[in-house]
Amino acid sequence: MNIQMVDLHSQYLDIKHEIDTALQEVLNTTAFIRGPEVSAFEAELSHYLDGSSVLGVANGTDALQIALMALHIGPGDEVISPSFTFVATAEAVGLLGATPVFADVLPDTFNMDPAQLEALITPRTKAIVPVHLFGQCANMTEIKAIADKHGLPIVEDTAQAIGSTWQGQAAGTIGDIGTLSFFPSKNLGCYGDGGAIVSRRPELFEQCRLISNHGSRKKYHNEVVGVNSRLDSMQAAILRVKLSHLDSYTEARVLAANRYDALFSDSSDLVTPFRDPRGSHVFHQYTLRVKGNDPEKRDALQAYLATKGIPSFVYYPVPLHLLPIYKDNPDSCICGPLSNTLCAANEVLSLPIHTHLTQSEQEFIAGHCNAFFSSL
Ligand SMILES: Cc1ncc(COP(=O)(O)O)c(C=O)c1O
Repeated sequence: MNIQMVDLHSQYLDIKHEIDTALQEVLNTTAFIRGPEVSAFEAELSHYLDGSSVLGVANGTDALQIALMALHIGPGDEVISPSFTFVATAEAVGLLGATPVFADVLPDTFNMDPAQLEALITPRTKAIVPVHLFGQCANMTEIKAIADKHGLPIVEDTAQAIGSTWQGQAAGTIGDIGTLSFFPSKNLGCYGDGGAIVSRRPELFEQCRLISNHGSRKKYHNEVVGVNSRLDSMQAAILRVKLSHLDSYTEARVLAANRYDALFSDSSDLVTPFRDPRGSHVFHQYTLRVKGNDPEKRDALQAYLATKGIPSFVYYPVPLHLLPIYKDNPDSCICGPLSNTLCAANEVLSLPIHTHLTQSEQEFIAGHCNAFFSSL
């Protein structure tokens, strides 16, 4: 059995004809940068995201940076995000000279704890960046209520959650700006780097567009200091094909998650992913908790699985506030109490999940997980 964390090759083979034809078309037209494929993809993704405006950019990290630039985040400002996330969430904050403020996550969803968010707001706070981690929305009702109360904009880091919803609304379209990543392993992944900015606020959206293209609307008439961050036409062509399959890809992921849940239903050592009934989970990751707040136990399970040829990953072993970039520079960030974050980093283990995972592969994986605990 050749089990992979993510099987991009089988997925490609299923849509090979569509992808190859789309790429050949770009080669024929040679419209490589901001060509018709990019505009068509932006329009199709806008339709998918209930009419929000969509701007293709070079990657999800740039999307966050451009969003914060459009909000004029700079030195002296504070931006609140979770510590339990990928480093990109907070990277742009520091790059722009502002200070990341790290909030704790809730133990069930691994998403930002709204109660702590409010306690961290100061006169310097200029934005809130919730992350929809592993494919499930943060509690946007409470986060938005707090943001509105304090007059703060929300940038939703939706890199891992395209297609998920919160109370019927698409992830990324609830706050002021949403950011997406099309990194190959993402639920909607291209074959290189790619990202997008989503917004329902025309003035902010136009500002993002301006910044993403060297700060210029008219060539050689640069109005603000911007960046060069554009989605290229090859990636847009691939994304158009894959967007048309995204709902079936999501269904396959949810089916796989349901199977895992059933296979682990008798385990007293593992906690399967919580699904908030107010939203929908698109299972970018299927992340278990190994009970006990003991990283050695979790690592032992991971090592055991590896001996059986089963890959697994710890997203994330080191919360952002403990990374050397922040820990070794005490003035570089501000932290709330982060006990749930620390416990999550000690307990989480993500199992293979992708659109082509089979029932027998999952039985094999779960069988070995359960066998590991029986042998203790
Ligand atoms: C939560 C989160 N934010 C931002 C990013 C950055 O996206 P990209 O890799 O496209 O720059 C990622 C990608 O891994 C992510 O998982």
